[in-house]
Amino acid sequence: MKKDLNVILVGLGYIGLPTAALIASKGIHVHGVDINKKVVETVSQGKIHIVEPDLDGLVKYVVASGFFKADTSPKSGDVFIIAVPTPFKGDHEPDLSYVEAAAMNIVPFLKPDDLFIIESTSPVGTTEHIYNLIIKSRPELEGKIYMSYCPERVLPGNVIFELVHNDRVIGGMNEQSTAKAIEFYSLFVTGHLHKTNARTAEMCKLVENSFRDVNIAFANELSMISAKANINVWELIQLANKHPRVKILQPGPGVGGHCIAVDPWFIVSGYPEESKLIKAARQVNNFKTDWVLQQIEGAATILKQQLGRQPKIACLGLAFKPNIDDLRESPALHLVEDLIKRKHEVLAVEPNVASFPRFQLHDTESALNSCDLVVVLVKHRTFESVRITKPVLDFCGLLHVA
Ligand SMILES: NC(=O)c1ccc[n+]([C@@H]2O[C@H](COP(=O)([O-])OP(=O)(O)OC[C@H]3O[C@@H](n4cnc5c(N)ncnc54)[C@H](O)[C@@H]3O)[C@@H](O)[C@H]2O)c1
Repeated sequence: MKKDLNVILVGLGYIGLPTAALIASKGIHVHGVDINKKVVETVSQGKIHIVEPDLDGLVKYVVASGFFKADTSPKSGDVFIIAVPTPFKGDHEPDLSYVEAAAMNIVPFLKPDDLFIIESTSPVGTTEHIYNLIIKSRPELEGKIYMSYCPERVLPGNVIFELVHNDRVIGGMNEQSTAKAIEFYSLFVTGHLHKTNARTAEMCKLVENSFRDVNIAFANELSMISAKANINVWELIQLANKHPRVKILQPGPGVGGHCIAVDPWFIVSGYPEESKLIKAARQVNNFKTDWVLQQIEGAATILKQQLGRQPKIACLGLAFKPNIDDLRESPALHLVEDLIKRKHEVLAVEPNVASFPRFQLHDTESALNSCDLVVVLVKHRTFESVRITKPVLDFCGLLHVA
């Protein structure tokens, strides 16, 4: 594939911006497109609007070198990549409107031999659906463009490294499209590029996150059973995992984030009769958050009777997983907001976030000193050294000594 190609990348968020910057750092011209003017302004100044280590320096460098430009409109190019959001709507139905809008915006600029790639996490059949939309509007392009689905599997906080080193699954609408996409990703990915068809690649992304969700649901279910059976679930899992073929994950207050808590629904909505386990896992993980709320309220009621007043509850952690600042779909945040709504006196602690618009944040030490009950919701590294002298409910195994 020629190196003087022009890449048009639509959606400059957590996935699109690092991808655009990485491609541009290889001396390939990238035209980034976002409907959010503020994003375009920020990026055009060589700055970033998201928290991601090492990304700021890379964006500054590629903007200064002239290989990366951002705009609110697309233009013609050789490779088009879509990295816009795919949330769910209604009763957990995938919302493809962002992908459709982004694709239709590109359609006027497409020409024969162009490569069109979808990176957004999408339900099975999306690549074909988008191809049909393109051809409906530009029938002369039928059979003349390359169309592929290439999902992303990076870990926030380590995106630049993983974009380069992770294996990728690449599925074209036909073999030529797969080969063309593999040729393109070889320009900046050193991980293995596994070829398949578009439907398998789409399902592969959904299956990876569903696998995590089902396994976390098993651990969460065990935690609720163990509480009733008066068994320490952390010790139980540790012992069960001594079996050479058993590897149970750790329970928590539920499942959050924008991937594991969302993607399994794309399978369930497409295959409701067949996906009973995947749906049950989603329900178990959501129920775990309700169960945690019941446990906290139960403890608060007993303390209220003993103290003769409303107890102060220190909630440690708000992020959706340890050691990050991301609060999207976070069960810990959801729990704190529910407790506040139910008129509990909450001292919320999240050391990775400076402030939060909806309620006040407290530092760990002052919250621990002035509370009556400690609730551990996220196993942040910074909590490992805290000394807790008050009654405690630990929902993520912080206090379990292995
Ligand atoms: N963030 C992750 O860790 C991760 C990992 C794997 C896959 N994904 C998937 O990648 C996709 C993108 O996720 P993200 O986290 O980067 O989202 P994001 O919300 O961070 O960024 C998406 C960007 O797209 C822009 N946008 C929306 N509609 C647009 C349009 N029509 N034209 C141009 N720009 C548009 C938004 O303004 C936003 O800046 C999603 O499908 C997501 O599920 C994300």
